[in-house]
Amino acid sequence: MEIEKILGRHSPLQENLLNILHDVQDAHPRKYLPEPHIRKVAEYLDTNLAQLYGVVKYYTMFSTEPRARYIIRICRSPVCHIMDGKTLPELLEKVLGTGINEPTPDGLFYVEYSECLGICSIAPAMMVGDQIYGQLTEKGIEKLISLIRDEENQKG
Ligand code: FES
Repeated sequence: MEIEKILGRHSPLQENLLNILHDVQDAHPRKYLPEPHIRKVAEYLDTNLAQLYGVVKYYTMFSTEPRARYIIRICRSPVCHIMDGKTLPELLEKVLGTGINEPTPDGLFYVEYSECLGICSIAPAMMVGDQIYGQLTEKGIEKLISLIRDEENQKG
């Protein structure tokens, strides 16, 4: 989606900054904020570019580096850790072939750590995009990744 269309959905008010940044980032197929887009947001809100970068760098959910279509967030907080969440990074690395903060070569997946996702009752847990998955096992992760890959292949 063109950035102008995204900006047009929001009034040019500072209070809309985080929502605008989220929408711009989500619309990018690699789920990040390229520099030209950050400049456009700064112009739209009549904000100092350095200040805007300060906001983008402050929040870990924003990225200025290309990531992937699906951001996988794995919880590294105590409950998930106790419930075997410590094995999630290795399981995902085994299934995807890439480590934390590394996009897969096909640009589909990018795994990052998160603090508690607020779904401790189904630990160990992770999010893929905005979908929640819990009580994860190696087989479950393999199946999920394979399903997403198949869906993406069918889209062409
Ligand atoms: S501790 Fe993992 S979701 Fe809360």
